[in-house]
Amino acid sequence: MSRVVVIDHPLIQHKLSIIRDKDTGPKEFRELVNEVAMLMAYEVTRDLPTEEVEVETPVARARCRRLAGEKIGLIPILRAGLGMVQGILNLYPTARVGHIGLYRDPGTLQPVEYYCKLPSDLSERELIVVDPMLATGGSVVAALDLIKRRGGVKIKLLCLIAAPEGVKAVQETHPDVDIYIAALDERLNEHAYIVPGLGDAGDRLFGTK
Ligand code: URA
Repeated sequence: MSRVVVIDHPLIQHKLSIIRDKDTGPKEFRELVNEVAMLMAYEVTRDLPTEEVEVETPVARARCRRLAGEKIGLIPILRAGLGMVQGILNLYPTARVGHIGLYRDPGTLQPVEYYCKLPSDLSERELIVVDPMLATGGSVVAALDLIKRRGGVKIKLLCLIAAPEGVKAVQETHPDVDIYIAALDERLNEHAYIVPGLGDAGDRLFGTK
């Protein structure tokens, strides 16, 4: 069963409260989403392997630890996932970024892929799938299915806010994928918005409506 890790660091919770506020405009919203994504990425990558190296300081030789070279793949689900990319790249500039675009078929209500470009060495990378809102879980589950079909193995999911329904959907279909969130909200409403949530993350990031 996937672990659900709620990252309740005071800085993240503080910034999330401003992100949720309906009066926060797109510029501040974008900046804060990126900052929170960066802070969360710090926790998501806590178990990255390190190796010992020797470094010559101005004073003496020091034994230090460096990242052992695990390759990261960052996969935003379009379009709101884009809002979290730069923050994580600030921490991991060598990460490769894949993109997955899905829309919901109005007839079947099933997610349909319209764009997919992923790093070719997917199976060798630690993959972080990002989407700010884990609502019904439909698009995240479809994205995880797609990534695994393309060879992805080590996958984590990073969202800002989740609804219990979305967490359940991911846990049932992808029990190997750990879920990192900043908040677990109450429920979905009749329009599949997370309550209390933050509204439409894509619209708030890009100033559309
Ligand atoms: N997507 C959003 O952007 N917001 C929600 O509340 C649910 C899905």
